[in-house]
Amino acid sequence: MEKLSDNAFRVLKERYLWKKGVGEDLETPEDMFRRVARHIAKAELKWGDSSEEKKWEETFFRIMSDLFFLPNSPTLMNAGLESAQLSACFVLPVNDSLSGIFDTLKLAALVHQKGGGTGFNFSELRPVGDSLGSQGGYASGPVSFIKLYDFATGQVKQGGKRRGANMGVLNVDHPDILEFIRLKVNGKALQNFNLSVGITDQFMEAVIANKNWGLIHPNSARVIKIIPARDIWENIVQGAWENGNPGLVFLDNIQASNPLAKMGKIWATNPCGEVPLMEYESCNLGSVNLARFVYQGKVDFKTLGKTVKEGIRFLDNVIEVNHYPNKKIERATLSNRKIGLGVMGWAEMLLQLHIPYDSQEAVDLGKEIMSFIQNESKEASHQLALERGSFPNWDKSIYHPAKPMRNATVNSIAPTGTISILANTSSSIEPLFALAFQRRRVLSGEPLDTEVHPLFAKAIAEGAFPQQEILEEVRATGQCGHIAALPYELRSVFKTALEIDPKWHLQHQIAFQQFTDNAVSKTVNLPSSASPEDIGRIYLEAWRHKAKGVTVFRNNAGNEQVIYQGIGR
Ligand code: CDP
Repeated sequence: MEKLSDNAFRVLKERYLWKKGVGEDLETPEDMFRRVARHIAKAELKWGDSSEEKKWEETFFRIMSDLFFLPNSPTLMNAGLESAQLSACFVLPVNDSLSGIFDTLKLAALVHQKGGGTGFNFSELRPVGDSLGSQGGYASGPVSFIKLYDFATGQVKQGGKRRGANMGVLNVDHPDILEFIRLKVNGKALQNFNLSVGITDQFMEAVIANKNWGLIHPNSARVIKIIPARDIWENIVQGAWENGNPGLVFLDNIQASNPLAKMGKIWATNPCGEVPLMEYESCNLGSVNLARFVYQGKVDFKTLGKTVKEGIRFLDNVIEVNHYPNKKIERATLSNRKIGLGVMGWAEMLLQLHIPYDSQEAVDLGKEIMSFIQNESKEASHQLALERGSFPNWDKSIYHPAKPMRNATVNSIAPTGTISILANTSSSIEPLFALAFQRRRVLSGEPLDTEVHPLFAKAIAEGAFPQQEILEEVRATGQCGHIAALPYELRSVFKTALEIDPKWHLQHQIAFQQFTDNAVSKTVNLPSSASPEDIGRIYLEAWRHKAKGVTVFRNNAGNEQVIYQGIGR
């Protein structure tokens, strides 16, 4: 078993490790990986005997405890429970009726309670002030129900371990769109929601051509107001400039690669955007730790490929042993069997290879690696289909009839907010955020020690530099780009998120998206000097390059992402 970092151990102790019994010690991290491996390997008994089960338990234990692969947090926390809910991602419908709205709110609370996150599209709701017809009175509109959902989420801590997270989407032709766009303007409101405008190609074309845009009543499909498309656009980029919200979800880009487009439209994503889902679908995630696949200065594709295949089997098994919050979610999930295997540790892989993040070489390697992972993932899902059967809606999918597949989707790039801490590596495909980290306690936020990134400390120790001075400077500023005593090569390899031009952030997102059937969760970091027009350009580029969504974060913009609060790296 790989030795865990102090910080990983601290996070595990506060949130993941179980008590062995009343008054007894906590399980060790090794016990935790064993508990998870055992639970997930149980699925093997449906097709094989107990020797198969044992064999896969050992494999799953090894890939987790060696920090090659980790599943999403709910799997680590809940595996082993009698009715364990193991998925991180859900999308639920919001129908235009009071009972529909409250039924979904209740279901969302149950999902949050077990560690999952929920996404909703509120566009079916009639606009604020609309007549309620024969009942009399006026509609509250989507914005007021989003506030209600936010408040309810705040009351349900995920098993006392973390707060629930939500994605709220409103389509760009909804009459209340401007109110939605301005919802987070004072920064503090809606702590439990990420907001995204649902964008169509038609809208983007109207913005580019500076045309008018119609706002449409969701019930009657009548245009009830016409405004310049650029008015909406300017409000969006202004909001994003002020506090990072709203992001955009590109509905036509999503639909163009929806493997089950015949079954209908996808309207929403999970909270961080990496999984577009149809209503009532859920998805479980896992990530391979790229930083562990560099051997003698090269990418070890052989071991990476093997781990990807084992990871896909793991995630497919999760669907078998999972417990779902209700029958509708169970049915939708079992019909399509979506899983999302992604990556973490990308920046640390580049560091080990001495490739700067902001270089064409890095982007090209990203494509090579993700295309390899996608091929291996699809091959693994295909093999599982031959062993276990295709997913039930396979005959309605793009894979029919040529390629039997066990899973409608196989890859997602998640933020890996917590599991990257457990694996002691950089999150997702993000560059390093800083070279020094002020650790904080997860729940209380109490500050802990300041640590210098170990790979940076190692590079400094190996060179003939004034070590103490450099480390002090890095502790104080978190960066090294300005330290003249360091050679150019080191300064460019160790550039952090805010020193990297936003265009490179986007290029990495697009490179990985090209080979990811679900989506990529990525934050495009901007310096505080960036203008709303800069954000507009990034949003436009993201759409043009077929991104499925886009999120920016301007330094000091007074915004806190739902996911990263209080966690060091
Ligand atoms: O690293 P970890 O497995 O904890 O999660 P992540 O990769 O940062 O987030 C993956 C997904 O988990 C998010 O997109 C959400 O769907 C869900 N999540 C949540 O519901 N609540 C949180 N506080 C964090 C994540």
